[in-house]
Amino acid sequence: MVADDGTISWAEVAEGGRARLIAAGSSQAALDVRRMIEDVTGCEPGEYHATLEQPATVRALTRFDTMVERRATGEPLQYVLGRWGFRYLDLLVDRRVLIPRPETEIVVEVALAEIARLIERHGHDYNRRITVADLGTGSGAIALSLASECKLADVWATDVSEDALTVARANLAGIGRAAARVQMRSGSWFAALPDELAGQLAVIVSNPPYVAVHETLPSEVADWEPELALRSGPDGLDAARHLLQGALQWLQPDGTLVLELGADQLSAAAELALGGGYRSVEVKADLAGRDRALVARLAD
Ligand SMILES: C[S@@+](CC[C@H](N)C(=O)[O-])C[C@H]1O[C@@H](n2cnc3c(N)ncnc32)[C@H](O)[C@@H]1O
Repeated sequence: MVADDGTISWAEVAEGGRARLIAAGSSQAALDVRRMIEDVTGCEPGEYHATLEQPATVRALTRFDTMVERRATGEPLQYVLGRWGFRYLDLLVDRRVLIPRPETEIVVEVALAEIARLIERHGHDYNRRITVADLGTGSGAIALSLASECKLADVWATDVSEDALTVARANLAGIGRAAARVQMRSGSWFAALPDELAGQLAVIVSNPPYVAVHETLPSEVADWEPELALRSGPDGLDAARHLLQGALQWLQPDGTLVLELGADQLSAAAELALGGGYRSVEVKADLAGRDRALVARLAD
């Protein structure tokens, strides 16, 4: 597959890459190869077919071959590419962080709607700023989206994993001026936040680990993504219980906790919230129509 005279076309390279990935058991070889060629050539998705007719350069081909071999071992495409799109952001991702999921984009949408609702409710009381926190930020997907998409938000992003925070800080550098409104801190859940924020947060949002310890996951997830980002106790709800309880002290009196969970966990979490001090709860579905986010409000 490697040519050093520049005479092989990307179409031929793509064919070889697809064959290699199909032989390795990939079910989306064509899509993977396309994303890799777009990445190594720098072409836009709309330029892909024209690019296939062009000769491959040795440098790009070497990178492509390395990517195909990594993907053939089962490594997720997102880690192989080293970046992945999330809402309007292009995030650095590698094995130190969970791969940002499309369903989490909806959780951001829900959090933005809560921020807008509270701004409306308070009128000018916020003096043009509102404080929110993303606990367990991983790549920074939620926190950085909130800061980029809501200019009134001051965002605290935390994680217990120093590795994850290193990735999040690299992504912070990529969001431009909005980065000035983001603070990143390490520590376990609320312990990462400064004491003076207690009772001050308008919205706390989290996509915590929520897979039960004994639940079987696809090997592409279990073998590659951080265990700390995935599993949380016998029913997967240990982190959610901790967040529901702790948020009572950290939210402002009419604040909202937004939690991403699995569809089969949301009714249990909603009951916990209603029995544990929240005034109202709502469950929001993702784009696939599956229940995905709990919205627990301290006031109507
Ligand atoms: C499901 S991942 C979510 C990552 C990111 N927010 C996203 O949506 O893509 C859960 C994150 O929670 C972090 N985490 C796990 N236990 C934690 C704890 N005790 N305190 C803070 N963060 C924790 C993990 O390191 C991981 O980054």
